[in-house]
Amino acid sequence: MTNQKEIKNSDLMEKIVSLCKRRGFVFQGSEIYGGLAGTYDWGHYGVALKNNIKQNWWKKFVDNRRDMYGVDAAILMNGKVWEASGHVVGFVDPTEDGEQFNVMFKTQIGAGDEAVVSYLRPETAQGMFVNFKNTVDAFHPKLPFGMAQIGKAFRNEIAPRDFIFRQREFEQMEIEYFIRANDWEKYFEYWKSEMLEWMEDLGFDMTKVHELEVSQEDRAHYSSRTIDFEFDYPFGRKELFGLAYRTDFDLKNHKLEYIDEEGGEKMVPHVIEPTFGVDRAILALLLSAYTEDEKGGEVRSYLKFKPNIAPVICAISPLLKNKTELVEYANTKVYAPLKKEFGRVTWDDNGNIGKRYRRQDEIGTPFCIVVDFDTLNDDTVTVRDRDTGEQERIKVSDLQDYIKEKIN
Ligand code: GAP
Repeated sequence: MTNQKEIKNSDLMEKIVSLCKRRGFVFQGSEIYGGLAGTYDWGHYGVALKNNIKQNWWKKFVDNRRDMYGVDAAILMNGKVWEASGHVVGFVDPTEDGEQFNVMFKTQIGAGDEAVVSYLRPETAQGMFVNFKNTVDAFHPKLPFGMAQIGKAFRNEIAPRDFIFRQREFEQMEIEYFIRANDWEKYFEYWKSEMLEWMEDLGFDMTKVHELEVSQEDRAHYSSRTIDFEFDYPFGRKELFGLAYRTDFDLKNHKLEYIDEEGGEKMVPHVIEPTFGVDRAILALLLSAYTEDEKGGEVRSYLKFKPNIAPVICAISPLLKNKTELVEYANTKVYAPLKKEFGRVTWDDNGNIGKRYRRQDEIGTPFCIVVDFDTLNDDTVTVRDRDTGEQERIKVSDLQDYIKEKIN
């Protein structure tokens, strides 16, 4: 059985960063040119993890609901958006010298005299507000309803740091939920519990998640109430996600309104905004999942991901890679059908079985399936459980159902 080890906070980030590089999750941006501060590049397993998280979020908050409308707006927007939203004046951080520095990335659109100034979006939210009228006209939603978007955001952070925690280019998953002003407290509470439920489902260590009521001085310029969900990272308790009551600030500034189709009432809806950083979600999930234990006198490290987010659901190995019968069987009767069914299935015949298990443990693969000589006689394989290391013999014809049952 497992024998979990305590990991010192001071070592934990280094272990995570090196695992992410070694196993192809996250690399320093532009690494071969010495890097670019505040940027990271995602490798094969990092992309898979990210996609699983985003898909899971979209399923819960968009596909499984009747009141949510997806958007994928352009990152480049008319500069007037950022004037109206208050970001040109208000999206500032103090530098070390105490000067106010606007953290939006300024850019020039077009050439010569025709060129106009704009900014890379610092939040995905405005892409939803500017499409409020389009969405209402196209879908005729009744209040309350929401818009949702996943996409990149950019901030010229003065001090990017702590791996993917504070970057200059990152990704957000945001919801703007439009309500009648009187209902704001009810929906604020509602979205708080929806956010917590999603975190639990995904496998965040909830003992490390804390709510912080953000004081007026510390709130963004558009918010009249904000809760930060903070996480106990090894470098301290810091923001993970946020929930803000943006009032009618944005729609009013964009001069947008809503007409109730039944009563004819004209109004400016108020907004509750649950916001999630994809990169911080990943960092917190890596920290929640990272485990070390002792097996056979050796320390092993593994990522205890829930199967719904694990980059790989199962790895298939022939016991020996130079035995044609084993390779053939593993490839055609196990790997090919499982790959077709689950997609996130990998072939691993590199090194001995012990090495393969260690590699898959670090990727967070819940099941390793091995085809050995017995398989050729009785059509069974061994399935090893990542967390316990225990192995079961399962009939090849039962594999799909076995895995389906375990991952649901
Ligand atoms: N639309 C609201 C908004 O943008 P925010 O609290 O400034 O609010 C939302 O950002 C989320 O985006 C944060 O809770 C965090 O998860 C993520 N985030 C913000 N700045 C980030 C950065 N520099 N690097 C990585 N993630 C960041």
